[in-house]
Amino acid sequence: MSRLRLNTLHITNYKNVLSASYSFDKPIHCFVGNNGQGKTNTLDAIYHLAMGRSYFSTINAHSINHKADFMRLEGHFVREENTERIECQLKRGESKIFIRNAKKYKKLSEHIGLLPTVMISPADVDLINEGSQTRRSFIDKLIGQADKTYLNQLIDYQKTLQQRNALLKQMGSFRGGANETLAIYDEQLIRYGIPIYEARKHYLAEFEPLFQSRYTTISGGKEIVSLNYESQLANEAFGSLLLKAAQNDRAAQFSTVGVHKDDLVFSIEGYPIKKFGSQGQRKSFLIALKLAQFDMLQQSTSLTPLLLLDDIFDKLDEQRVAEIINLVHESSFGQLFITDTHPERTAKVIEQTAKPFELHHL
Ligand SMILES: Nc1ncnc2c1ncn2[C@@H]1O[C@H](COP(=O)(O)OP(=O)(O)O)[C@@H](O)[C@H]1O
Ligand SMILES: [Mg+2]
Repeated sequence: MSRLRLNTLHITNYKNVLSASYSFDKPIHCFVGNNGQGKTNTLDAIYHLAMGRSYFSTINAHSINHKADFMRLEGHFVREENTERIECQLKRGESKIFIRNAKKYKKLSEHIGLLPTVMISPADVDLINEGSQTRRSFIDKLIGQADKTYLNQLIDYQKTLQQRNALLKQMGSFRGGANETLAIYDEQLIRYGIPIYEARKHYLAEFEPLFQSRYTTISGGKEIVSLNYESQLANEAFGSLLLKAAQNDRAAQFSTVGVHKDDLVFSIEGYPIKKFGSQGQRKSFLIALKLAQFDMLQQSTSLTPLLLLDDIFDKLDEQRVAEIINLVHESSFGQLFITDTHPERTAKVIEQTAKPFELHHL
């Protein structure tokens, strides 16, 4: 397993972090300070540089400090013994610029998979509570880090879907023909959609045992949990689904069948966790999902991902946090970034693990 480290980080105008510089020479770094000081935003700055976007928002402008007209991030990573200098520049109203070793990327997707990073955050409850879009995006990130073809197919599928929906709208308003064009879009949806379905099925089958194993460790192995990949394509060919839905789609003026309807159903003892899971079970479930994501990224990239633990004490008791720190370190040379409001608590827990660490007060 190769090393991945973040050595230095410079932040300018990233949300409420106006200016900060760090050098990280330990395996564990903790950002401590009161609420609202920018701990989460600092972790997000790391995530943004490594993964090409904020963990929390897909809207670029949200990353720029309200009172500034640009933000800038710079990080020096070490990956397989090579230094990677990554810069991200964003001016208000312009598109984001990503630079690797002084060379500008043509497309942001070129950066994906280079610096695998996993964030565990209180916002992860969205995975349980929100709609299927959140879970599809989780799956897509999981696969996209390992598989560039998948990313491109997703982009092409999404584009075709938008065009098809626009056409359905037109057909609805003008009652025009354009059936031939619809048929062309159907063909394209099938061309991109089937490999997306196959990839999701394949990667989720690999993901499930990793998840099971993490859940067992975290929860003490009492309950049976499951992840079920649900897709309309599982029971019927995509072509036939589209044909049957044609009438419906025209009435609804959007595309009602396809992999954009896929979902990942979380259950515990056979019941949906959203309705029947206890608070503790949900927390364990979410952490297991994220640690399994960590495991899978590690397998697929042969790099130990950076792990960002935001407000982890919020989710778990001190014993569990210490276990997680140990678990992550046992397998590999990972690097861990943690935030907490209580410096003493953090220090106490990490001291138990006997790993070198540094506290950064915000
Ligand atoms: N674009 C922005 N510009 C300025 N401040 C922002 C921006 N986005 C978020 N904030 C502020 O950042 C603060 C939260 O920072 P955060 O990193 O979550 O704090 P912590 O994790 O230390 O509690 C909030 O006060 C919020 O208003
Ligand atoms: Mg926070």
